[in-house]
Amino acid sequence: MRTTLTVIKADIGSIGGHIKPSGKLRQTVEQFLKERGKTLLTDWYVSSTGDDIALLMSHCHGRDNADIHKLAWDAFVAGTQVAKEQGLYGAGQDLLKDAFSGNVRGLGPASCELEFDERPAEPFLFFAADKTDPGAYNLPLYLSFADPMHCAGLLLSPRLAKGFTFTIMDVSHTHGDRVIELNTPEELYDIACLLRDNQRFVIESVRARAGGEIAAAVSTSRLHNIAGTYTGKDDPVALVRTQGSFPATGEVLSPYRIGHYVAGTMRGSHNGPLMPSRLNATISFFDGPPVVTGAAFCVHEGRFTEAVDVFDHPFWDWVRLKVSEKAAEIRRQGFSGPAMLPYSELEYGGVVEKMKELDRKFVVRPESGAPAAKRARASR
Ligand code: F6R
Ligand code: MG
Ligand code: MG
Repeated sequence: MRTTLTVIKADIGSIGGHIKPSGKLRQTVEQFLKERGKTLLTDWYVSSTGDDIALLMSHCHGRDNADIHKLAWDAFVAGTQVAKEQGLYGAGQDLLKDAFSGNVRGLGPASCELEFDERPAEPFLFFAADKTDPGAYNLPLYLSFADPMHCAGLLLSPRLAKGFTFTIMDVSHTHGDRVIELNTPEELYDIACLLRDNQRFVIESVRARAGGEIAAAVSTSRLHNIAGTYTGKDDPVALVRTQGSFPATGEVLSPYRIGHYVAGTMRGSHNGPLMPSRLNATISFFDGPPVVTGAAFCVHEGRFTEAVDVFDHPFWDWVRLKVSEKAAEIRRQGFSGPAMLPYSELEYGGVVEKMKELDRKFVVRPESGAPAAKRARASR
């Protein structure tokens, strides 16, 4: 059976700042899908990660289907109404346009989709991250699909040893999708060369070279490219099929033990370690640390099993302690150097005004011993 998995997520309001949507908001969105999605959807799963609410939907209408995207948009509009009634913070924040047109890309919500012929058993992982951006998945996906230090299958399984094709997007290009396809293992260094820049080059999808099947998809939207100015970090979602011709579930999870530093956390303007967290996680220390949640499913004839919380295990409690140490350590240096993002990535525009003001006050000091005419020129 041909199945499409669509995830669409948005921040449409939360309790106590940018922390977590209310129960009522979530129930409203869920109820909306249940009633209005009856004929369109085969199954759905609603969850929250930090202040974002994500709709995971299965159906048979393919990717970029206008009806599916409109259903999600309308569910968010209904949720926004409740957020306003409850006085939640940032009600409707990610619905950047007034009206729906075609699909949610470019309208604010993030989305990613996988379309495939179901295998007899079809395990997959659904990741959602908050207080960070799509480049947060670059390193984990690179390691689980291309590095035998995390993916033993690259050595042990002939199917995996054929490698994977990475489609990488240049998200700084705003007029159309600028993408490149690169193959492992031959082009590993080229892939690494791009993926080191998490703010510009983002993995959009991964395919198995054995059979050409789609393995993974990531949301690639960048809100500041849509709105013109920053309205929040993009809090990306990802879907990864596992087992068989793909990395095993544990190989996909393995890189999350690093707690690598990603952009985001307070005011979307700092670096912080990515903390693998339990489903429906909240946000806390310094509007962070950036969190990623993971739900494992099997989908059969479009129907989901219950979700298994992949980071709800004693091993990840130990990881969370380590990640907390990394978070506290980088915070010790406040705004200095790598603790804060470069100028171009700061979420708030105030610093631009401040820099303009300071720029006007700069003077070029005349060289000592220079002729009077040169000194006069330098001081102008
Ligand atoms: C980051 C984020 C938060 C807010 C911060 C201030 O993406 O959502 O860190 O930037 O809480 O929020 P405002 O400006 O809404 O008061
Ligand atoms: Mg937010
Ligand atoms: Mg968010």
